[in-house]
Formats: sequence, structure tokens, C-alpha cells
Amino acid sequence: MTFTAADVPDQSGRTILVTGANTGLGFEAAKVLAARGARVLLGCRDKGKAEAAMRAISGAAPGADLAFLPLDQADLASVRRAAELAGREPRLDVLLNNAGVMTPPLMRTADGFELQFGVNHLGTFALTSLLLPKLAEAPAARVVVTSSVAHKRGRIDWDDLNAEHGYRRGDSYCQSKLANLLFLFELDRRLRAAGAPVMAVGCHPGVAMTELMRHVPGPVRALMPLIGLFFNSPAAGSWPALQAATSPEAKSGDYFGPQGMREMRGPSGPAKRTLRSEDPEDARRLWEVSVAMTGVDLRLPAAT
Ligand SMILES: NC(=O)c1ccc[n+]([C@@H]2O[C@H](COP(=O)([O-])OP(=O)(O)OC[C@H]3O[C@@H](n4cnc5c(N)ncnc54)[C@H](OP(=O)(O)O)[C@@H]3O)[C@@H](O)[C@H]2O)c1
Repeated sequence: MTFTAADVPDQSGRTILVTGANTGLGFEAAKVLAARGARVLLGCRDKGKAEAAMRAISGAAPGADLAFLPLDQADLASVRRAAELAGREPRLDVLLNNAGVMTPPLMRTADGFELQFGVNHLGTFALTSLLLPKLAEAPAARVVVTSSVAHKRGRIDWDDLNAEHGYRRGDSYCQSKLANLLFLFELDRRLRAAGAPVMAVGCHPGVAMTELMRHVPGPVRALMPLIGLFFNSPAAGSWPALQAATSPEAKSGDYFGPQGMREMRGPSGPAKRTLRSEDPEDARRLWEVSVAMTGVDLRLPAAT
């Protein structure tokens, strides 16, 4: 059974935090969730962009219950503040981790991490860990982690996680998206071992023409509108995230993505993952490294 935005059930009474909700897939997911009655917190680093997104969502879904949550995943202090603010909500049902960056030139977060590993993985790891106690208060909470088909080419460079000795943009992106899946499956194992009432569900959007391509070289970017005809629209690209966040049939540890050719477009359903992304030893090691790098330690029993 495939899943599209039309399959999102009523979300009245639920509060959903969508990171990177001002544009692209996060914006599209936030719009659908708000239209279905959820209170949506837009976790964004730019207030102006978040407010413009909220205006656009309210235009499409009059009466939408929206709030801006300042969040810069390239700054752990900001991640901690965002978790604290979200923790003041009466309830939090879903954390939809969507914010991400692809193939920028070598840049570092406020804490000195290579940007892609820092934002895509470490920011997601820290925000999720900090919010899990809050999520566990809700009756059937979920954490959603957004990966990519790029995880299939990913390798974790244990000797140079922080790109101190070299930097290849594409490799670093693939590494961060593999890290997203290793984290997702380890989180699922730990939540189950702890008997925690929270599900961990993954998704990837296939390929969708969004601002993610902002660091792609100019000549290639110029061709994007044409290339984009063969891929997912941003709206369709958000369906796997919507399935992960809301499908009543989803189980913890599921991973969703488009069902069309090479998983690049189409309605959402079960997605393929590599054996490497399910390696429990790598996942445990990544978890420990992430705790050491972020100083955020979610004390759930380690998976056995
Ligand atoms: N589009 C695709 O084909 C594709 C394929 C596979 C996976 N994905 C994944 O899907 C997710 C969403 O991507 P997208 O295509 O929607 O890209 P996008 O249009 O560039 O949107 C990315 C969002 O993340 C936010 N963001 C970036 N850095 C951030 C930071 N430091 N702190 C907080 N927010 C930050 C951006 O905010 P600003 O606008 O302020 O920069 C934006 O809201 C990403 O995780 C990406 O890896 C996308």
C-alpha cells in the first residue's frame, strides 16, 4: 500500500515539530500537517523565512496553528534552547527531523564540527536526545529521521569524522546521511530495549528539486528545472516524511521512500537500506562518538 498526502489522518490535538520547515520538503510537510489540524512548530534558523512560511501555510490552511521555534542546528547552544522551548509546549507528539544541508564548501558549526556532519547528524542526534523525555510523555510519539538514497554510497570515516585531514563535499554528505540511518536504527533498538512509548521511523524523499541544490555548481543548477521534471516535486518528496510521521500502519524501525524508478519519485512506501546502515556495531560506535562530540547523553539502555 502506497502513501501520499491524501492519506494523512486527522492530526487534531497533536503537536509536531518540523525542523527546516521554512522551505522545501519541511515546508510541504508542515503545510499538510497543519491543514490536517496539527499544531506545527517550525524549527528554523531564520525568523523572517519562518514567518514568510507561516503566512504561506496560513494562506493555504486558514486557521492553521503555527509557531516559530528558533533553531540553528549548526550551534549546539541553539539546539539546547530550542529543546527547552519545545519542552514548554503542553505536549509534543512528533519530532520530524528534516533540516539538512548538502555539499557546501568546507564550513564549520559554532562548535567546530564539519557542517554536514554537524547539522545533518549531530544536530539531529542532539535535538532528538534532548526532546525524547518530552516526547515520551505523549501517548504515541514518534521521532522521524530524514536520510537519502545517498546513504548507499556513504562510509563513516572514523579516522577523520570532522574533516580535519581532508574534505570531499559529496563523501561528507553521503556520510551524514548514512549516519542518519545508523542513528535511526540504533535509536529504534534502544527505545525498544527500554520499553519506551516512542517510535523511531525513517524516510527519504527520493530526489526533489528544492533549495538543497543551492551548493550544486551553477551550470548544473541551471539545468535543474529540466532535470526536475523527471523527479519528485517538493510536495511529493514530503510524502515519505508524512508517512513516517502519521501512518497508523507504520512501525518503529520502518524506513519509507518513493516507490517509483530507483526510489527517486512517486508515492511513498517501504524503502531500501544498505546492510551497512543496519550494522549494530557501527551504530553503537557512532552513538558513543556523537555523545562525546555533543555532550548530550540520552540514557537509554544500549541495544544488545
Ligand atoms: N531534495 C532532495 O532531493 C533530497 C534528497 C535526499 C534527502 N534530502 C533531505 O531532505 C531534507 C530536507 O531537504 P530539502 O530538499 O527540503 O532542502 P532545502 O530546501 O534546502 O531545505 C532545508 C531546510 O533545512 C534548513 N537548514 C539548513 N541548515 C540548517 C541549520 N543549521 N539549522 C536549522 N535548519 C537548517 C534550511 O533552512 P534555511 O532555508 O535557513 O537554509 C531549510 O529550511 C534534508 O535532510 C536533505 O538531506 C533531500
